Amino acid sequence: MADKTIRFGILGCGAIARFHADAIAMLDNAELIGVAGSSLESAQRFALGYQVKAYADYNEMLADQNVDAVCICTPSGFHAENTMQALHAKKHVVLEKPMTFTKAEAKAIAAEAEKSGCVLTVICQLRFSEDVRRVKKLLADRALGELVFCDLYMKYWRDHAYYASSNWKGTRRFDGGGALMNQGIHGIDLLLYLVGNAKVVHAKNCTRLHDIEVEDASMAMLQFENGAMGVIEASTCVWPGFERRLEINGTRGSVILVENQIQKLIIDGETLVERQQRAGNGTASNPTAFACDLHALQISNFIDAICGRDELLITAAEGGRAVALIEEIYQFGLQGR
Ligand SMILES: NC(=O)c1ccc[n+]([C@@H]2O[C@H](COP(=O)([O-])OP(=O)(O)OC[C@H]3O[C@@H](n4cnc5c(N)ncnc54)[C@H](O)[C@@H]3O)[C@@H](O)[C@H]2O)c1
Repeated sequence: MADKTIRFGILGCGAIARFHADAIAMLDNAELIGVAGSSLESAQRFALGYQVKAYADYNEMLADQNVDAVCICTPSGFHAENTMQALHAKKHVVLEKPMTFTKAEAKAIAAEAEKSGCVLTVICQLRFSEDVRRVKKLLADRALGELVFCDLYMKYWRDHAYYASSNWKGTRRFDGGGALMNQGIHGIDLLLYLVGNAKVVHAKNCTRLHDIEVEDASMAMLQFENGAMGVIEASTCVWPGFERRLEINGTRGSVILVENQIQKLIIDGETLVERQQRAGNGTASNPTAFACDLHALQISNFIDAICGRDELLITAAEGGRAVALIEEIYQFGLQGR
């Protein structure tokens, strides 16, 4: 098993599917076998670019004994059903974020993965970035002292065309939420991964600008289990859009992560990192302005877990953490403008 090549199928032939195909191509022990989409034509168009098979539908892909693992890249509202189908077919699963929309569904998926004996990971690619790993280590070593404030700002811009050009973005059924469940889940995953579990003290969710069924501006006040307090501000209607900013302040030091990069790190009076703001605003206004290298690192860990070489870093339980917190924030309701 140690040197086995894992053969992948991709479901969903849209924007993120290309990141999966390109990430698989970067790995020596991974091979893309074929793709399935909402129609044979869409699969054929995608397959042509990668010289792989186009399946008529998902069932055909799942029936193919050559496929060891599937990457689920469909609109979020299909994630739970598509994952269950793959696990029943005994395929390992790389599931795009959000894992699903509720804590209960996430638990059901985790239980099914356990029962099937298959490996399932939920894409949380930011956890694989070098600076995030550095901050994780600093916090594990308690280098910032007692944590006081842990704040996450995701003030993004998405224009009307972003929602109007998609048949699922901004819908409750298929997007499951807005600035939090779609754009903000990466930041929330990082916050919980780095700082630990939190409860929502208070929250407010609004639809300020867009003609969508879900929130485009949200604010939550958090109490972390370790005693720290924090806020989350998330939006898709802030012009011109700002990069994700995570500020962690403790009694001995502070760190500011902008996107995946440490912008400032001060411990015991010593400035260890001080970087200028980067040019441009990345995914704050352009959802696909990132590279596939972190997806490749996560898929590589997934393959190592299948082959028994390494522990799976992002399990189903880990993938469900951000979903559970977002569900808690949504329980405060959705208000108008
Ligand atoms: N990890 C990340 O950074 C990241 C970034 C973008 C999107 N995503 C996630 O990836 C998923 C897809 O997003 P996207 O931007 O690629 O969307 P998209 O609209 O570009 O692509 C979705 C694709 O799925 C196909 N599809 C729709 N219903 C289907 C079905 N029932 N069966 C098979 N195919 C179907 C569509 O035809 C389309 O090709 C979403 O869940 C999104 O949250 C993750």
